Amino acid sequence: MIKKLKLGALTALVSVAMSTAVLADNIHYVAGVTGNALETFKNIVKPWEKETGHTVTFVPMPASTTDQFGQYRLWLAAGNADIDLYQTDVIWAPQLSEQFIDLSEVAKDLAPKHFKAIIESQTVNGKLVALPLFTDAPALYYRKDLLAKYNVDVPKTWEELTVAAKTVQDAERAAGNADLWGFVFQANAYEGLTCNALEWVKSFGGGQIVEPDGSISINNKKAIAAIELVKTWVGTIAPEGVLAYQEEEARGVWQTGNAVFMRNWPYAYGLGNSDDSVVKGKFGVVPLPTGGGNANSAATLGGWNVAVSKYSKKQDAAISLALYLAGPVAQKERALIASNLPTIVSLYDDADIAAQQPIIPRWKDVFLQAVPRPSAPTKAKYNEVSSKFWSAVHSSLSGDGSTAENFEILALDLEDLKGSGW
Ligand code: GLC
Repeated sequence: MIKKLKLGALTALVSVAMSTAVLADNIHYVAGVTGNALETFKNIVKPWEKETGHTVTFVPMPASTTDQFGQYRLWLAAGNADIDLYQTDVIWAPQLSEQFIDLSEVAKDLAPKHFKAIIESQTVNGKLVALPLFTDAPALYYRKDLLAKYNVDVPKTWEELTVAAKTVQDAERAAGNADLWGFVFQANAYEGLTCNALEWVKSFGGGQIVEPDGSISINNKKAIAAIELVKTWVGTIAPEGVLAYQEEEARGVWQTGNAVFMRNWPYAYGLGNSDDSVVKGKFGVVPLPTGGGNANSAATLGGWNVAVSKYSKKQDAAISLALYLAGPVAQKERALIASNLPTIVSLYDDADIAAQQPIIPRWKDVFLQAVPRPSAPTKAKYNEVSSKFWSAVHSSLSGDGSTAENFEILALDLEDLKGSGW
């Protein structure tokens, strides 16, 4: 009798497992890993996995958006069916739109909950290419304790930042704090340098490389002056190594207490306040400095989205996951555990988010006024435009030609690219 019962229960279990196996999909989601992105993602997807019975395999990529783009382009060109969902940078939509499915119909109830401009940035010729996960706009992180110690004000211009960084760095080093640097940012030759340099150039009144109407504006005196100032930082208030820094290298120096100022995205806010952070509770954030005069501060618009591969064989489950990740529950969780800026308007009035990650409601106006990179006017050529720009800036900062020479050549190269159509 007992034997029979046991067998019966086992048979029942096996048949449940088999029916789940038939219905359940394993979705492959590919994304770069910056900060605690992997843990964040695993936590966020758990409720969806539980509810649907599907599982998700996270395919980790290098943190650099440039490296990710190169790999994704190859996979998509080859019609790779192993990846169902791609986490996509805000600048990629026009370049990869052909490879992803149109989400406008399935997201017709969700899309109006997001900031309109962000949905528009992911819409190419009426096709909604990707759904927003979070938006991004950088901050100037500063050490409250060190500025107070030396009676230095939070800088409002890049010139003030140069002086403030040097003052604190010199005084601390004289007091034995040998590893301290004044300012860390991202000057590796990659997309992140395009973001940093666009901020310097735009905040000096030097335009935005290629203007929204497609005209090439980069070769001008203000843009050149901005980069020439930054060049003076390398090896003085910033380590020489900054020429190889991406986001995580800058955060590494900052979070071990070895920088007075840092330029970084909001993800560094939550991590900087985590229990193992040396700078926990010791820092503040303000918008980036201006170039002085009448110029405004400029923050580059960043952000990440999720797109469904047209080569996926599990599109229903992939769409369900994309809608969940871009929805209010997942976006709130992401805001709370990773201090990523939501793209759903109502989350800016959420009391839990405001209490746990106060940068988020404060950053609403910063990202709403953020400067887009010229991916819309340059369309399929954006990646080439950006790589020519970051290379010219990287050469200038490395002392390989003057900024004036490098920008003159850059403008000619961009005219050539434009001539072949973008
Ligand atoms: C951030 C931004 C992204 C940008 C990248 C550059 O991840 O969200 O848009 O391209 O930084 O490093």
